[in-house]
Amino acid sequence: MNRDPMPVVVLISGNGSNLQALIDGQLGGSLPIDIRAVISNRADAYGLERARRAGIGAEVLEYRGYETREAYDAALLARVRAHEPGLVVLAGFMRILSPAFVGALEGRLINIHPSLLPEFRGLHTHERALEAGVTEHGCSVHFVIPELDAGPVIVQARVPVYPDDTAETLAKRVQAQEHRIYPLAVRWIAEGRARMRDRELVFDGQPRATPPAITAEDALAAL
Ligand code: GRF
Repeated sequence: MNRDPMPVVVLISGNGSNLQALIDGQLGGSLPIDIRAVISNRADAYGLERARRAGIGAEVLEYRGYETREAYDAALLARVRAHEPGLVVLAGFMRILSPAFVGALEGRLINIHPSLLPEFRGLHTHERALEAGVTEHGCSVHFVIPELDAGPVIVQARVPVYPDDTAETLAKRVQAQEHRIYPLAVRWIAEGRARMRDRELVFDGQPRATPPAITAEDALAAL
């Protein structure tokens, strides 16, 4: 089916390696998207450079000067909406978003989280996975709802945890998978295969309680 590429806005705070995976997918032709803008809350985010190099508009909106989270989020929402995105992608955007922001974009706002949700919501997931002694860890792409890291999962990738892992080695293994599943989830949404209804994932027209998972074997093969 021929569709126009889906207009996308990506929000970042840092390195932007997930942004890069999306840019590569767009430029390589595997992702039917048009990244209209990359917006960072930090002027020093390396991801801004990645956007510029790809000819994508790179914008900075710092929190400084705003009195409240709500005021900042209203300004951010206006910036985002100016690009008329069909999808807003959080790619390492390190701010908690207010219910008003999330509500305005619900169903069109996705995030990648470095754990197998619902395990390890919040920060420092790799350290916490090691402390908990799990043998499997991974990452999840999910629709964003006002509750933190709690929206319906679209896809997950699992990786093994080895006895000699450090947070760094584990993060590296997980991130390699992030760069596979984020473009995949974005493609499913752009193609109309994945969407959120009543805060549940609908995949190929069917409500799915369990998201499609990429197995540890697949994950290993990709390393
Ligand atoms: C990723 O590990 C992602 O899971 C988390 O923030 C990190 C962003 O990395 N939400 P990058 O900026 O995409 O390289």
